[in-house]
Amino acid sequence: MKKEIVCSGIRPTGNIHLGNYFGALRNFVKMQDEHDCYFFIADYHSLTTHPTPEHLYANARQILVEYLAAGLDPEKATIYLQSDLPETIELYLFLNMNAYLGELERVTSFKDKVRQQPNNVNAGLLTYPTLMAADILIHKAAKVPVGKDQEQHLEMTRTFAQRFNNMYKCEAFPLPQAYNFGGELVKIPGLNGSGKMGKSEGEGNAIFFVDEPAVLKKKIMRAKTDSGPTQPNQEKPEEIKNLFQLMKVVSTPDTVAYFDDLYNKCEIRYGDMKKQLAEDMENFVAPFRERIKELGSDEARLNRIMDMGKEKAHESARRTIDEVRHIIGYRN
Ligand code: TYM
Repeated sequence: MKKEIVCSGIRPTGNIHLGNYFGALRNFVKMQDEHDCYFFIADYHSLTTHPTPEHLYANARQILVEYLAAGLDPEKATIYLQSDLPETIELYLFLNMNAYLGELERVTSFKDKVRQQPNNVNAGLLTYPTLMAADILIHKAAKVPVGKDQEQHLEMTRTFAQRFNNMYKCEAFPLPQAYNFGGELVKIPGLNGSGKMGKSEGEGNAIFFVDEPAVLKKKIMRAKTDSGPTQPNQEKPEEIKNLFQLMKVVSTPDTVAYFDDLYNKCEIRYGDMKKQLAEDMENFVAPFRERIKELGSDEARLNRIMDMGKEKAHESARRTIDEVRHIIGYRN
């Protein structure tokens, strides 16, 4: 008997990077054995950035390949395309009726987008958190494996779920929690000193599983550093902390301790540290890259997996929508 219902997704707006993996995908893989898991490719959410029709499916298909390369098993978890589950959109509409402009405008990710793309502040961006809530609540998930940047969205999901339950005096929805295996939610830093690794954080900031060895090495060797410590045990500036944090996820504790010690003695040479990081990163990424290449060519299998996921996800979503329609007062 599997324990809890788990649900999460990744937007197909680029390849999977190290941040997606350590924030989310690694948890997906770990959770699939013990839980009832729904992992989707968030291709409705990706519409906020207006992809072309040619790119929309190709990008989604690529994320499926990368899910599989990371170890997701379609026999254990339900893996599906968000746009194969239009029930989500019906729930999104219901939730939007009780989501208020003020609270949506205060969401940090919305405010960031308003700053980044003032010419494309569309209603989809504003209601991004209600669509996320619909993704999660459509399966009545209890746990949602995500990175730190999604914490506020999960808080809103709980608000919308509780509000629905209160309004209709029911217990239709559980209050889902953001989840990471190690406890704290994680934020993997990028290479350009900007804080977060991300697809839209600028060229060279993210390390992708598809990166070839030369690309990967170049990105790391170009990572932002300072001119070095001048006093023993000096506090590390942001970009140096980031390099150490990246090292922590792919290198051995001994390696990290070795460079930490050199830093504290003011003897560190960033070139050496980056060379080591590039080598350890390559060892970490190479197996993913190879599996992505292998898996990407089996079109028939990918289609079968999409069809199977669609069917399983549909069963769960249909149950919820029928119940919700009944609660609201629609004729089923
Ligand atoms: P997206 O596609 O931006 O990112 C996918 C997942 O990767 C995590 N992540 C990170 N974690 C740690 N460090 C980083 N630098 C880093 N960058 C990305 C994100 O936290 C996320 O877990 N809105 C979501 C997709 C989504 C979703 C959902 C997630 C749509 N509906 C329902 C959970 C439940 C997003 O844009 O993620």
